[in-house]
Amino acid sequence: MEKKEKYLMMLPQLKALTEGVNNNTGALANAAALIHETMGFFWTGFYIVDGNILKLGPFQGPVACYEIGYGKGVCGSAWKEGRTLVVKDVEEFPGHIACSSLSRSEIVVPVFKENKIIGVLDIDSKEVGTFDETDKEYLESAMRILSENLV
Ligand code: SME
Repeated sequence: MEKKEKYLMMLPQLKALTEGVNNNTGALANAAALIHETMGFFWTGFYIVDGNILKLGPFQGPVACYEIGYGKGVCGSAWKEGRTLVVKDVEEFPGHIACSSLSRSEIVVPVFKENKIIGVLDIDSKEVGTFDETDKEYLESAMRILSENLV
């Protein structure tokens, strides 16, 4: 199945799975699991804004670092810049934080709630160049759906 078809199949599932659950940790955990399993990524998870740092939230995949500073790494940079960052090759991103030496490309999508960033979705791949405009478009849609269902 094409990547686009997988995303199109996943978005209504994400809506059904998170609508009215009234449980942010649970909704984030199920969102990470759904995206991870549907797309077959290496690491899929959330870092949540807590003051001036990002703290590790629900995720799927290998163990990860607990805290990321504002403007640090790909996650902290996406938070600071307020936009999705697609990194084709992590070795070419100055300041990339290597939670796993196996990670070679990455996408980070901010999660907005009432125009404020409350966290980021971080996805890592073991291959260079995994993520493109298609991932950006559908993962941004996914984060809008999720955000509507966070309380
Ligand atoms: N690589 C990320 C850190 C998080 S781990 O990859 C899960 C970054 O540079 O922000």
